[in-house]
Amino acid sequence: MAGYISDDSRKVTTRRLFEMKQRGEKISMLTSYDYTTAQIVDGAGIDVILVGDSASNVMAGNVTTLPITLDQMIYHGKSVVRGVKRALVIVDMPFGSYQGNEMEGLASAIRIMKESHADALKLEGGEEIIGTVKRIISAGIPVMGHLGLMPQSINKYGTYTVRAKEEEEAEKLVRDAHLLEGAGCFGLVLEKIPASLAERVAKELSIPVIGIGAGGGVDGQVLVVTDMLGMTNGFNPRFLRRYANLYEIMTNAIGQYVKDVKSHDFPNEKEQY
Ligand code: KIV
Repeated sequence: MAGYISDDSRKVTTRRLFEMKQRGEKISMLTSYDYTTAQIVDGAGIDVILVGDSASNVMAGNVTTLPITLDQMIYHGKSVVRGVKRALVIVDMPFGSYQGNEMEGLASAIRIMKESHADALKLEGGEEIIGTVKRIISAGIPVMGHLGLMPQSINKYGTYTVRAKEEEEAEKLVRDAHLLEGAGCFGLVLEKIPASLAERVAKELSIPVIGIGAGGGVDGQVLVVTDMLGMTNGFNPRFLRRYANLYEIMTNAIGQYVKDVKSHDFPNEKEQY
């Protein structure tokens, strides 16, 4: 079976991601939301699996990431963890589970870790949530930051276009990145920002910086698994590379099954008892 064979089959840790950055080895990261997909993604050699709150869009069909609940993220997290042997598993903290106050954020973080058995959490935001980030890290929970386009704030932006093109927003992003590193985050996701800015942040920080729509000058890349496999139809941002066309493959297979049932071809004699 084809896949990427790493020369190190041990479980990936935050420490190993840090070492990968130090030796210039790029980090591969994809989302997963269920057991079966996570088994395939892990078996193919991915370094990090993100149980993204993009589950709200691609699993539940919501327009934004806002509706997904803490219970639902724990359900997706648990399902993924059961399918993974090697990759580091990070669960997104959903909208409304950490923005209120530090203690609420800590309680949500502890619930996700206790119930999903994930390795780490990801939170969106910089200065505004830094107290919560510190509180969660002080409880021994590894945290990854997320800056740039932050889909949980879509109602503030009003658009999913590229962020931090203007100097003021770019400078705030750089300050926030340093704050998150200073607070003890083990890594940072930068979403949909100019490649030159992302490269600057990756150079200035010692923790790994993972990009999505942030160019090649960062320490690793993340994509939404259903997008890169071509299961989602009609979502075509410039940064997305499709590695398969599962939409077509699945539609053809299902169409063939329907035909076979209707024509009495399925099941045949060998497919029954
Ligand atoms: O929820 C998600 O899938 C994410 C990635 C886009 C980084 O946060």
